[in-house]
Amino acid sequence: MERLKGKHILLGVTGGIAAYKSAELVRQLRQADTEVRVVLTRAAAQFVTPLTFQALSGYPVPTDLFDPGAESAMGHIELARWADAILIAPATAHTIARLTHGLADDLLATICLASSAPLALAPAMNQQMWFNQATRANIHQLKERGVHLFGPAEGDQACGENGPGRMLEPEQLLQQLVALFTPPFLAGVQVMVTAGPTLEDIDPVRYLGNRSSGKMGYAVAAAAQQAGAEVVLISGVSSQPRPERVKCINVRSAVEMHETVMQRVHQCDIFIAAAAVADYRPQQQSKQKIKKDYSHLKLELVRNPDILADVCALADGPFCVGFAAETERVVEHAQAKRVAKGADMIAANRVGLPGSGFEGDENALEIFWPGGGTTLPLNSKPEIARQLVELIGQHYKQTGK
Ligand code: CTP
Repeated sequence: MERLKGKHILLGVTGGIAAYKSAELVRQLRQADTEVRVVLTRAAAQFVTPLTFQALSGYPVPTDLFDPGAESAMGHIELARWADAILIAPATAHTIARLTHGLADDLLATICLASSAPLALAPAMNQQMWFNQATRANIHQLKERGVHLFGPAEGDQACGENGPGRMLEPEQLLQQLVALFTPPFLAGVQVMVTAGPTLEDIDPVRYLGNRSSGKMGYAVAAAAQQAGAEVVLISGVSSQPRPERVKCINVRSAVEMHETVMQRVHQCDIFIAAAAVADYRPQQQSKQKIKKDYSHLKLELVRNPDILADVCALADGPFCVGFAAETERVVEHAQAKRVAKGADMIAANRVGLPGSGFEGDENALEIFWPGGGTTLPLNSKPEIARQLVELIGQHYKQTGK
């Protein structure tokens, strides 16, 4: 979260049920070393109290434009100038409408009007309200004006309906804020990322799999998108949320992933293979569930295609980055893998340790390229992904591929 360090974030909270999640967002923003000041609308104060946000942000929380106490401490104009970015989360349909029309009928709307800082909205509303023509037109106008939209996500809603209109989770909002402060060094670049495990079916109910969660690959896809790239994510079965503004294609087996990658690889400039691809698949897939009629069962396995090696071997292929999951002699194995597959860069991580690697939320990487390398020490996967994508961007530009 280096990019957020020391930044002044003005968080506007408006009156939706998702307001309770904004308390967690403030906590995470503080953890990322930002200064946060929270402004509540009157409706928001019906859902969460100013005191909650005061305790979490360390600053008083004004709710009223005509509050002499708050104005004498830091007035609305000063708050508008203080902010490096304004995020309204949740942003209700009503607030979105007020902002579209430039109203200044409360403290938050007035600050938005008086500030030149980037403004981001995290909409949260019933899906019918989101689809309403009035909201569609408001969103369109705000986007045209350069207002950033974080979400909304799709899914079950507090009102019992299902569809778009859910506020993004606090960690996703944090990532979007990081993106807001990231220079678009990959603008105009097409990136393809593979992520997650591949599953190799044995019969209709059983498969061979591995412990990859997909977290690292999804974080890399999100980081590349945040750096301005157009990103396609080819994902094995993973429960990770699809990164914002990333095209996601779901596959199951290594053969399917190979086919999907090879179909699209000619459109990409950078290929990042973060998937944990099964090296072998059952020679035969039983059409029916295998019964336990035998005392021993032999499973014959055949080699899967090596996706990364095949992409690296293409004439005029993209800039290729591989991962190397190793349990021992990490550096040696990774360097040998990079050379054997012909990749431009390889990121090695030790797997099999608790807390890091496949299933954990953190990772550390040893990165190698022809004639050099560097270490990215243990950090959250989104932060490691951001640093890795920055390195990839530098090397991609140097090689002029
Ligand atoms: N990879 C791939 N297709 C495969 C196997 C691996 O694209 N069939 C890619 C992975 O996505 C990763 C890199 O190759 O970027 C290295 O994967 P890894 O599992 O560490 O190594 P393997 O090549 O499978 O070799 P080994 O299992 O012998 O360590």
